Amino acid sequence: MKVEGKNYRTIWLNENDNAIVSVIDQRFLPHQFVIENLTSVNKTCVAIADMHIRGAGLIGASAGYGMYLATLEAKNKKNVDEYLKQSAIKLKATRPTAVNLEYAVNRQLQALSKVKSIDEKIFVAKQTALLIAYEDADYCRRIGEHGVSIIEQISKNKKGDLVNILTHCNAGWLAFVDYGSATAPIYEAQKRGIKVHVYVDETRPRNQGASLTAWELLQQGIPHTVIADNTGGHLMQHGMVDMVITGSDRVTRSGDAANKIGTYLKALAAKDNNIPFYVALPSSTFDWKIKDGRKDIEIEKRNPDEVKYMQGLCDGELKTILVTPLNSPAVNYGFDVTPARLITGLITERGICKANEKDILKLFPEQKQ
Ligand code: MRU
Repeated sequence: MKVEGKNYRTIWLNENDNAIVSVIDQRFLPHQFVIENLTSVNKTCVAIADMHIRGAGLIGASAGYGMYLATLEAKNKKNVDEYLKQSAIKLKATRPTAVNLEYAVNRQLQALSKVKSIDEKIFVAKQTALLIAYEDADYCRRIGEHGVSIIEQISKNKKGDLVNILTHCNAGWLAFVDYGSATAPIYEAQKRGIKVHVYVDETRPRNQGASLTAWELLQQGIPHTVIADNTGGHLMQHGMVDMVITGSDRVTRSGDAANKIGTYLKALAAKDNNIPFYVALPSSTFDWKIKDGRKDIEIEKRNPDEVKYMQGLCDGELKTILVTPLNSPAVNYGFDVTPARLITGLITERGICKANEKDILKLFPEQKQ
């Protein structure tokens, strides 16, 4: 996607030095555009855990590249396989909720187990990392092609009037390698000349909506309005939202979807107001091993300081301010689970389906048990 008119992906291999993986450091957006070079597994782990890079798809792609960096490091180790195994454990431990992380690391381990010499391992890990990243972008592009049909239909029903879409957090291209999941249908609608407008939930505590989604949409010229997290229900009651699209960090085989904290409340409000609520995801976000999202999905608990403090621009400088009494305790759950019964449909790279096991498996028959 475009930044100041120039095309970028969120992660790429440095053309001149293939031992460097470059990423956009999202901690500084929307005020500063900073590129970070990841040169080791440890740096990759810190970047994921401290959210220099974030979002399910991008976390997965970064972990794929992290395993490639691990093979470069393993060249100087006595026990290559043990080093790769430990690197995989470290990467998987960085963040628990997005299943794309586990998916990418396991895919690398499986590919690596098929070759013996370290030079072959380096080659295979590089190819696999590139493939994971390529697929992530391509699947999001296809999500856009499928999802746009829903927006098109709403636009037709409204006789070409503006389609208002509400989204939560950032499931845009910054959360993936390109296009985004929730945003891909919106970008495709813009390409097809459909009039769209996006309500962007600010998404406390880290403000991924206000800082990242708003920035993305601005760069792509999509009309949008940032709203405080508690505003969505009011807008829905007054006919100002035509549909909701969110991303997801882990979806069970029965269609329950974990996403950024607050998503569940938006789904409840949408149900109450008869507004379609869609979840967009690439297949790497399905966790085929589990059924009951509320019981089986681990919800990340992050540092309470993310709730107590906020970052923003002040007199031209990035500053952090305290918004609670210093001694008030806070708690910081990163995600919640929206039960399948509140979800109108899942938009995947293979098409749109209802959020239930039978319909999901029609799109992904190879996952039948
Ligand atoms: O904590 P984050 O920013 O990594 O959260 C992940 C998300 O971006 C959202 O939950 C998003 O909607 C999921 S889609 C990548």
